[in-house]
Amino acid sequence: MTITFVGHGYVGLVTAAVFADFGNTVYVIGHTKEKIENLKRGVIPMYEPGLEELVKKNVKSKRLIFTLDYNPSISQSDIVFIAVGTPTTKTGDADLSMVLDVAKKIGQNLEGYTVVATKSTVPAGTNKKIKRILEESRPQDAEVDYASIPEFLREGSAISDTTNPDRIVIGTESKKAQELLVKLHEPINAPLVLTNFETAELIKYAANAFLALKISYANAIAKLSELIGADALKVLEGIGMDKRIGNMFLSPGPGYGGSCFPKDVKALISIAKDNDYPFSLLEEVENINNQSRRDIVRKARKMLGDIRDKKIGILGLAFKANTDDMRDAPAIDIINLLQNDGAKISAYDPKSMDVAATVLKNVDYKKNAYEAAEGADLIIVLTEWNEFKELDFSSIKNSMRTPKIIDGRNLYDPSEMSDLGFTYQGIGR
Ligand code: UDX
Repeated sequence: MTITFVGHGYVGLVTAAVFADFGNTVYVIGHTKEKIENLKRGVIPMYEPGLEELVKKNVKSKRLIFTLDYNPSISQSDIVFIAVGTPTTKTGDADLSMVLDVAKKIGQNLEGYTVVATKSTVPAGTNKKIKRILEESRPQDAEVDYASIPEFLREGSAISDTTNPDRIVIGTESKKAQELLVKLHEPINAPLVLTNFETAELIKYAANAFLALKISYANAIAKLSELIGADALKVLEGIGMDKRIGNMFLSPGPGYGGSCFPKDVKALISIAKDNDYPFSLLEEVENINNQSRRDIVRKARKMLGDIRDKKIGILGLAFKANTDDMRDAPAIDIINLLQNDGAKISAYDPKSMDVAATVLKNVDYKKNAYEAAEGADLIIVLTEWNEFKELDFSSIKNSMRTPKIIDGRNLYDPSEMSDLGFTYQGIGR
């Protein structure tokens, strides 16, 4: 098939590269010349394991074509995916301006029969707007059906999540569009959920909000465990063994971040409010998440007394490991709060320091974890990078002013750390 993706963020670029690798001809439309020129050379705008190789391979075989033009890519395509961003507005709603603008440009370039599908997560109800725009802008002899194919890939494991997903959700009213989309996904061995547009969209929001809820639940149990002297990791392991609960997404930490959970929880609260349903359960999920970030700072105050002029080394800035993404990373809030208290921050992250430097000022960025810890009164681990699991803590201890550590991802054994001479504080134990 010939398909087009409008947008080359995580979702657009990864899915486009995977579909090209399956043997389809895939156009990717962007709107910044420099980015498109880079992509043509295989230079990708983010760090994602395996993606650069996959893009280069398919560009070389001419199955993956990057362009600024809606023509002839759209007119030649059987299926067009909208995969541009839907950032959160100040009121918590999803900003749909990019999606709607792109829908119009797609509409104007349609030819013959085309399925237009959104990959971008859009609130229920948006489909009617997009459908109307496509209908109003299309040439008279062009025929268009509209669908939603929500995306569940995670950063850091985006390619395997796309080639090996738990399910594929296809939401459309049109049988013809459904058949074409099922055919496109044939090389992927996963159960299909075939439904209407609204249901498909809600599946995406409901899944992300539920996972965020699980994390906030784990963080609340961690808090309670600290108060009553229980070991939260054992509690969560114990409940996770119940198949009805499951053991995934129950790791307590500095709270969830990234481009999806914070935005999607907010958007679902907002969708519910618009329909006169106060989804207070999700408001509490957000509250607990914010508290989890503040709790790290509270722990630092408790360990250091007055934070002013204390040197704190931060290990890990990205919102999770294996990505350079800093969007809504807990490190941003935590470092801002520590700096407000007068702390001097040094930091190291294997991949995200360039991105971090654009959002976090007055931070002394270091070349490695050892340099970030040197002379520090306290180190705080905020991202679970593998390289932090194997650090030489004897030498770190000797280089610190006072050997204190907040292990925000529970990477280390508390008793081993205190045997080494560290004052240790994990999350929930
Ligand atoms: C998420 C969804 O998992 C994915 O299905 C969707 O398509 C996009 O949003 P992503 O944002 O890439 O993916 O990261 P994910 O691995 O889900 O982690 C999100 C956040 O939750 C991170 O900040 C992570 O550190 C945190 N988290 C995750 C926890 O704090 N504890 C956990 O047990 C799991």
